[in-house]
Amino acid sequence: MVVTFSSRSVATTTSRETSSPEETESAGEDLGRRLRPGDLVLLKGELGAGKTTFVRGIARGVGSTAPVASPTFQLVRVYPGRVQVAHVDLYRVESGAELRDLGLEELLDAGAVVVEWGERLDSPSATLISIEHLGGDRRLLRVERS
Ligand SMILES: Nc1ncnc2c1ncn2[C@@H]1O[C@H](COP(=O)(O)OP(=O)(O)OP(=O)(O)O)[C@@H](O)[C@H]1O
Ligand SMILES: [Mg+2]
Repeated sequence: MVVTFSSRSVATTTSRETSSPEETESAGEDLGRRLRPGDLVLLKGELGAGKTTFVRGIARGVGSTAPVASPTFQLVRVYPGRVQVAHVDLYRVESGAELRDLGLEELLDAGAVVVEWGERLDSPSATLISIEHLGGDRRLLRVERS
């Protein structure tokens, strides 16, 4: 599955350890404050790593007050804010056709796009952030590609 988008670098710190959901959310908020339309952020990490928690912070960072939850049934949820954030979860997306139906290009025209299980998108210029479970409540957030 090959989908290519151009994007600019939005992540500044290269790695950060957190020890609570609030801290992960706050890291997301820092990123959210810098987001601009056209930015594509891919999130990578096992089940329960904290991807949705990070997105909750991103939404706060753009000033959105919408509740953030995994877009399990809709595949994409849109949060209006200073910059619109489209929250995509590719966990259940299996085909290129489904991926095209998401309308990622249009979403990038309208705002920023943040993708859980984002490593499934082949998008070499996108920002890629991994979240690794370090045991207990500790997580390592790492910018794999900015
Ligand atoms: N440091 C931390 N950072 C983020 N979440 C944490 C942390 N410590 C504990 N948690 C808990 O881990 C869980 C992370 O869930 P979350 O839905 O954000 O993960 P996810 O990566 O989106 O999972 P999924 O793959 O199912 O979508 C939450 O219950 C959260 O409270
Ligand atoms: Mg999630």
